[in-house]
Amino acid sequence: MAISESGRAPEDILSELKKLKSDDVPWRNGRLFSYIYHPGDEGEALLKSAYSEFLTENGIDPTSFPSLVAMENDILGFMTRWLNGDEHTVGHITSGGTESLLLALKTARDRARVLQPHITKPEVILPFTVHSSFFKACSYFDIVPVVTPVGKDYKADVEAIRSAITPNTILIAASAPSYAFGVVDPIVEIGQIALANNLLFHVDACIGGMIVGGMPRAGLENHPFDFSVPGVTSVSVDLHKYGYAAKGCSALLYKSDEIRKYQYFICADWTGYSIVNPTMMSSKTGGPLAGAWAIMNYFGFEGYVKLARETVETTRRLAEGVNQIPGLKVLGGEPEASMFTFICEDSINIFELNDEMNHRGWKLQLQLGTHLAPANIHLTVNKAHAGIETEFLKDLASAVETVRQVAPSQVQLVMNEELRGEVTEQALYNVMARLGIDPDNLPKRMALVNEVLDLLPAAVVKELLGRFMQGVYKPKLSV
Ligand SMILES: Cc1ncc(COP(=O)(O)O)c(C=O)c1O
Repeated sequence: MAISESGRAPEDILSELKKLKSDDVPWRNGRLFSYIYHPGDEGEALLKSAYSEFLTENGIDPTSFPSLVAMENDILGFMTRWLNGDEHTVGHITSGGTESLLLALKTARDRARVLQPHITKPEVILPFTVHSSFFKACSYFDIVPVVTPVGKDYKADVEAIRSAITPNTILIAASAPSYAFGVVDPIVEIGQIALANNLLFHVDACIGGMIVGGMPRAGLENHPFDFSVPGVTSVSVDLHKYGYAAKGCSALLYKSDEIRKYQYFICADWTGYSIVNPTMMSSKTGGPLAGAWAIMNYFGFEGYVKLARETVETTRRLAEGVNQIPGLKVLGGEPEASMFTFICEDSINIFELNDEMNHRGWKLQLQLGTHLAPANIHLTVNKAHAGIETEFLKDLASAVETVRQVAPSQVQLVMNEELRGEVTEQALYNVMARLGIDPDNLPKRMALVNEVLDLLPAAVVKELLGRFMQGVYKPKLSV
């Protein structure tokens, strides 16, 4: 496995690429609860054909590739209707949720630079449960994140948001739903605050917009979150999640062009051709757009409404089953949309439970503890999980019984003895050595590593994760 010196035959290359995938997590069978949204075999084949049809086209220039503009406008039209927008609603397709959130904040910052030049340190109000990409945006664009608490229901605390407003505030953000606990923030109340204070209000419906938008249309609960809510000025919805499009596709919509125009980067004073970049990238493949256009036509408006209903039903069946397993508890009551999180009683080590489920072929998402909840397991439920409920719950119940037999963990004790309140590099090595963890060769069962991470201060965890990534990505020299 290295890049060839003198070139290779296409069949040979393709067969090696296929082989390369063999270590990847299997995802077609509904055993993975994150990362991939499988539209079914027929939908996948359609996606791939549409994507490769436009793989080579370049979204840099709308005048050379009107096909891409036409597809983008169709998708945005669909999303305007889905999000109850009107004739003023505008937007763009970005490469994903992170880019949509980065752009929503950059737009707010650049708008403030023009309309409120006295603001030199712009602030955005972020309820504690917002996605990490908001913090990334603050770090990239030099915006101050003002984090506000959430309530016992894990939803943004409305009064805390009101009190956090200062003359430097440029935007309020909220989630519909938030990732970790899957609940929808009180968008209507926050919208009132935004209106009263003349602030931008971005709703991050990246993960759940296609679900919460479909729910009332399918006769389920209405969680108002979109342009029908007074005060909402922008909304992001990832089509590469519950839109079942290929990766690289999110929709970012604004209430009007008066706001969207600040998203653009335009350059007419460099030595090359004039540049107008509505989104972050300049050259970009047309593949994700074509894939999204195709899969949206495949399911249709009604198809997404049906998918929302079925997915919420699957989620509720799974959550109800988890709650019935002695020792497990779903946080936040009945799931509001298509995600939920559960914790374990003390006699069950959640890190071991995660490994045990992994061992049985289920890939769940472990989340480290915060002041809101101890370490927990998160499930993002989608179309691929309809029909796996019984098998999953049976395996989970039996995994819990297996984990109950595991000897109590020594991690806390070892860490107390070695760290003595101070995390030095040497002390960390001692902890690892005593627990039998080789930091250069991580084990398949990660319970011990995860438990150590859960007990360390966040700053140390960040440092360790950074180093881990540096170790993963190393150029493999071919000669
Ligand atoms: C609520 C929310 N916002 C934003 C994102 C970021 O999306 P992406 O991974 O496509 O960049 C996610 C991803 O899970 C999310 O759950």
